[in-house]
Amino acid sequence: MAIITGAAQGIGLATAQCYVREGARVALVDINVAKGKASTESLTSQGASAIFEQCDVADQASVERMVAKVVERLGPPDVLVNNAGIAVFRDPLEMTAADWQKCFAVDLDGVWHCCRAVLPHLLKQGKGDIINIASVHSFKIIPHCFPYPIAKHAVMGLTRALAIEYADRNIRVNAIAPGYIGTEIVENIFTEAPDPAALRRETNELHPIKRIGRPDEIAWAAVFLASDEARFMTAECLVIDGGRSTLFHD
Ligand code: NAI
Repeated sequence: MAIITGAAQGIGLATAQCYVREGARVALVDINVAKGKASTESLTSQGASAIFEQCDVADQASVERMVAKVVERLGPPDVLVNNAGIAVFRDPLEMTAADWQKCFAVDLDGVWHCCRAVLPHLLKQGKGDIINIASVHSFKIIPHCFPYPIAKHAVMGLTRALAIEYADRNIRVNAIAPGYIGTEIVENIFTEAPDPAALRRETNELHPIKRIGRPDEIAWAAVFLASDEARFMTAECLVIDGGRSTLFHD
């Protein structure tokens, strides 16, 4: 059974869809109740074993309640996908204290709260996988995206630290670093641009593969990382960005 946070839409929903296709039972978790329920119904109407639980990952008590309810309804989890995240891009000196706190509360504390609540169940079962959705911002700095990359760098630190801490107890902790993926946020940026077609073209051109990614192209990596085929892999990160971060720019 897999708990997937931020599963109402985007990469989280695509991950839930791929896990269901592989026969997993899934708990879709999100702060957005209406979308979360609708997305879960779209899976259960096709015969999937899926439930929705509302939760704010930034709030530790909310996460603990969510995990308790999921365990009550579906039994203990084998897999946790920490996908819920928000993009906070500000000018460093104009950013408010609230912007900074919100970014870290969701993008870093949220990951830890879910690990903290799920790890005892994984330890009790003697196995389990945690997959953190990091970002290309976990390794490189793209200007004008402050403070999001700081939180995403820390997600990699958390991934490595927990992986080493629990490696000898059959718990693997890995990450995926997506590049530009065409989820709702990204589509909205295109739609709202003065020349959406031009921005789309320019963005595609940034990539050696000449296009941005699709949510399922991240989700299949999350299937692999939770599978027995990845059993010797821990403390690692799969960068999935169409080659963009390897490309040399002068
Ligand atoms: P999205 O905005 O489409 O979906 C995120 C989901 O998380 C939403 O359903 C939202 O309601 C939920 N969420 C937000 N705050 C929450 C909270 N406090 N508690 C519970 N749920 C919450 O985002 P997308 O694009 O699917 O991104 C998913 C993850 O992938 C994020 O961690 C993001 O940082 C990461 N990522 C996305 C990239 C992209 O190009 N789309 C690139 C690199 C990383």
